Amino acid sequence: MMELLASIGCHFRIPLKTMWLWISLVLVLQYSKTVLSDSNYLIGMGSYDITGPAADVNMMGYANTEQIASGIHFRLRARSFIVAEPQGKRVVFVNLDACMASQLVTIKVLERLKARYGNLYTEQNVAISGIHTHAGPGGYLQYVVYIVTSLGFVRQSFDALVDGIEKSIVQAHENLQPGSIFVNKGELLDAGVNRSPSAYLNNPASERSKYKYNVDKEMTLLKFVDDQWGPVGSFNWFATHGTSMSRTNSLISGDNKGAAARFMEDWFEQNSAKSDELGTDEIPRRVSSIISSIHNNHHELLELASSFQSSPGKRATRVSSAARRVRSALRQADKPGFVSAFCQTNCGDVSPNVLGAFCIDTGVPCDFNHSTCGGKNELCYGRGPGYPDEFESTRIIGERQFNKAVDLFNTASEQLKGKVDYRHSYVDFSQLEVTIPKEGGGSEVVKTCPAAMGFAFAAGTTDGPGAFDFKQGDDKGNPFWRLVRNLLKTPDKKQVECHSPKPILLDTGEMKQPYDWAVSCNNIS
Ligand SMILES: *[C@@H]1O[C@H](CO)[C@@H](O)[C@H](O)[C@H]1NC(C)=O
Repeated sequence: MMELLASIGCHFRIPLKTMWLWISLVLVLQYSKTVLSDSNYLIGMGSYDITGPAADVNMMGYANTEQIASGIHFRLRARSFIVAEPQGKRVVFVNLDACMASQLVTIKVLERLKARYGNLYTEQNVAISGIHTHAGPGGYLQYVVYIVTSLGFVRQSFDALVDGIEKSIVQAHENLQPGSIFVNKGELLDAGVNRSPSAYLNNPASERSKYKYNVDKEMTLLKFVDDQWGPVGSFNWFATHGTSMSRTNSLISGDNKGAAARFMEDWFEQNSAKSDELGTDEIPRRVSSIISSIHNNHHELLELASSFQSSPGKRATRVSSAARRVRSALRQADKPGFVSAFCQTNCGDVSPNVLGAFCIDTGVPCDFNHSTCGGKNELCYGRGPGYPDEFESTRIIGERQFNKAVDLFNTASEQLKGKVDYRHSYVDFSQLEVTIPKEGGGSEVVKTCPAAMGFAFAAGTTDGPGAFDFKQGDDKGNPFWRLVRNLLKTPDKKQVECHSPKPILLDTGEMKQPYDWAVSCNNIS
């Protein structure tokens, strides 16, 4: 696997964390000496609604029991992209306007795909990713940690996702046409900041000096160009949290990435409508399928068609020419909709609240090391560029990503070549062996242990502070919550030592009642 990553890496230098998203997806971008024809792949795009229940359901992301959906800011979608080699392998990448993908949802989707297509789409070649909006309905995962605040599983949330993903993949499958793919990347500086800059400073200076910024600012975009229709879609990866909408928002929303996707799809449709009207050739022209097979005289046919007399008193412009009207009608009938997805990547500590974190009582910046105000974490909030209007912040951060994506889209010239391939694997993070450098030289092999959440976790972040008296950066814990924890599960000495210096608040990896709290490999065959 590392070889695979390295081979992707050396051609495109995608940051390591981004690559994780690529693992199950990816085209192996080995440079191929035999230059293929213009369109080397079959490409297909699909998009379908996954909004789900818009009332009385807890929202996924902030783990705030009081954040209950009561309406819609804008609807959520699943956007699917299929790349296939004619008679060869294929991959599917699905981007969800949801907080994250879910193993349970994936299992159900794969079941449906198997019923439809046999072994064409399996867990090996279908990758599903979420944009990390914190404003979508929750309750669609099977582990307790993720569904505590929604008070368990929510059937409607789950069904909306499974149905929408299935339909978007079916659409993409039915749209498969010869086409090519271009890749481009660039820096976007003002759509994300590090929300834990003091924690970042704990990294060794030698490591920090390898990077220009304290978060990843790179956007990587893929552009899909259909042989007949011209550009039909794109998706990009860029790291910034879906937390422009706050923890008190109750309207379902795709947050900044969902907004960016809408902006780009609207931009494209408006642009191509304009070019249809005005006869500009910004969007490559599509030749009707009726005459595309007789390449040689298609120009003649067009000439002939446009030579027909126009009605008296009116000049035969390109707009009103018969050829154009006919072509335009054909065009509208089966033109695939433009699909643009804004995907999430290594957004761990990247906040869209780029103005920084301030105390809501005094208005001064929060304590740098603990993100507190007078010792309290509940008062410290990050501010988006539209502060105090979170809808405006969502729009602005969406627009910044949209503008960058359009720029990369318009200038993409590096064509992807090579075979389509994919890798998928389950990794048990509770018992990995890791080689680390030893103090005083040499190295030693250590082992990871079952998951556990620390006290600092409960403090949340400046995008959504937690309740009670938890603090970020806490390495001591407190007796009251330790008592509460012990009612649930007391971690043993080995587990405590393994997680040290982080004090354990919830020993989630070892909690199995009423069923698994954290992702467990026991469930995976
Ligand atoms: C934050 O913590 C570091 C390391 O303990 C310390 O050197 C620094 O002075 C603290 N900064 C502030 C603003 O409290």
